[in-house]
Amino acid sequence: MSKKMIITIDGPAGAGKSTVSKALAKKIGYIYLDTGALYRALAYKALKSGIVLDDIYALDSLCSESRVVLKNVDGQMKVYVDGEDVGNKIRTEEIGLTASKISAFAVVRKSLLQLQRETGVNGGIVAEGRDMGSVVFPDADYKFYLNADIEERIKRRHNELLSKGETPDLRSIRKDMISRDKQDSEREVAPLKPTSCSIIIDSTKLSVREIVEKIIRQISEK
Ligand code: DC
Repeated sequence: MSKKMIITIDGPAGAGKSTVSKALAKKIGYIYLDTGALYRALAYKALKSGIVLDDIYALDSLCSESRVVLKNVDGQMKVYVDGEDVGNKIRTEEIGLTASKISAFAVVRKSLLQLQRETGVNGGIVAEGRDMGSVVFPDADYKFYLNADIEERIKRRHNELLSKGETPDLRSIRKDMISRDKQDSEREVAPLKPTSCSIIIDSTKLSVREIVEKIIRQISEK
């Protein structure tokens, strides 16, 4: 792997994208770009400022007034909104759902496009999200689409919240996940779907290590 490639990993919530992308990037010495964090950062600001979430004019102003910045701190990408490190505050279910809601608006997507592309300008990047292969990096060297059965994704999210010391409710996780799947895949702008050249991986029965190995096998074949 001499060339610094762009590798994209798209897929629905709970499919294991973040863990896999992070592990893959670390293993091959690439930058890990978590684009969900950018939408979550804007969702955080939208909730904080109390705007009506489907008011396109309010969203437009919010996006043009907000400064979303990515900084590489000791090899780790951190997200700042107007100078505030929002890393720990954006990992809630409420912010995930809000990010899903506002990301359906073209004005929101457009405001984050350049930042995402700039991060990948020199290659050497594993970019994770919903539209990495379809919109942000259409010329990516490898496009992966990671999926898993909904029941498995619900179980993973439940375990993740338990490990954070929370007391998650399975029924509300199921409800939120179904609603996020629907919102992310049925929106008009940049809907979640594999591209015609995406390599689809079903992660339902695979461990993180197995998925990373599978990806590395694919990208070493060329
Ligand atoms: O990956 P995540 O769960 O952190 O993403 C939160 C939401 O952000 C997701 O439900 C939809 C939106 N998103 C998007 O529309 N496009 C991306 N590339 C990444 C995330």
